[in-house]
Amino acid sequence: MEKVSFISNNPEDLLNLRSSLLTWFKIHKRNLPWRSNPNLYKTVLSEFMLQQTRIETALPYFYRWTESFPDFKALAEANLDSVLKHWEGLGYYNRARNLHKVAQYITQSGKIPSSFEEWKKLPGIGDYTAAAISSIEQNLSVAVVDGNVVRVLARLTNQENTFKGNSDAVNFFRPLANKLIDQNSPGDFNQAMMELGATLCQKAKPQCQKCPLIKHCKGLKFHAKNIKYLPRIKRTQKEKITLERAIVFKRSSILLHKINSDSKRLRDHYEIPLMELIDGSFSTKKLKPITRGRRAISNQSIEENWYKIEKSFVNPHLLTQENGFYWVDLKKIDSILLTGPHRRWLKNLLKIQNAKEVDLINN
Ligand code: ADE
Repeated sequence: MEKVSFISNNPEDLLNLRSSLLTWFKIHKRNLPWRSNPNLYKTVLSEFMLQQTRIETALPYFYRWTESFPDFKALAEANLDSVLKHWEGLGYYNRARNLHKVAQYITQSGKIPSSFEEWKKLPGIGDYTAAAISSIEQNLSVAVVDGNVVRVLARLTNQENTFKGNSDAVNFFRPLANKLIDQNSPGDFNQAMMELGATLCQKAKPQCQKCPLIKHCKGLKFHAKNIKYLPRIKRTQKEKITLERAIVFKRSSILLHKINSDSKRLRDHYEIPLMELIDGSFSTKKLKPITRGRRAISNQSIEENWYKIEKSFVNPHLLTQENGFYWVDLKKIDSILLTGPHRRWLKNLLKIQNAKEVDLINN
């Protein structure tokens, strides 16, 4: 692929670009809880949360988490169940397990990594998180390159090549990002680039007239109307999967299935059982789902159909704890670890039931 065209060979332009961006950030940065009285713990926590999650989604989790685990020591001493419970709904649970391990490492060893490479040795910390932590907390000049930064740089340099995927684009722009970074304020520079991509230089509706980098932007210069098509990144089609699940009530309890420990990501979570687990002979052809849901994980798009199944139709010999089945009182559902989408959909279903007074639960 053609080497990235550099923004300008004039050092003054570069200085100007950095200072325009930093000034904009100083004035417009969002008021985020990890930015007021910042410390290493808040930065590490926020960067773990933001690895796969939008800021708006992460915020309530951040507040709840810091109430319960205000520092590395409190987190290190917490039990894993409680840690996972606080993460419930954010998905990608290995982030919570790894963060717990990082807190234990720092607390027990008394050591804090002091370089990008050292941060990368800790569990769950890759290029992105190591660059964010070491630049924001330790003033090290390592560029963060996430999807937002790729978008800003692709537009700024009018990069029209098509990338094979996100990581291809990230690797392509890393050298440029490292060249641009402000050596005096690398943390603010990185945050400003991410913030610009998340706010003004958005995917579909870039607000170029408000952009602090407008006079440097080659994408705008050459493609004013079509700038939103940059960057060009090939998206792989997600595999489509349909799952059929059974809602079974026994008085005020619901039948849940504990996910088998083979799945590291969802270990110890409960979910609404798959039809095939309660009885392979059920045919859903004649049944109408009482609810449907759709979710996406990495490269799969999953549609779920939930069917109400009378308890009397289920073979009681199958429903043992050895097979992973539990009757959970609906009043206690908040205290168990349910997968995020299942909690949401189940809550909705029960709300609809209450509103319509439909008798989903028959005794
Ligand atoms: N996305 C992830 N981390 C961020 C940060 N520190 N500032 C802005 N956006 C971010």
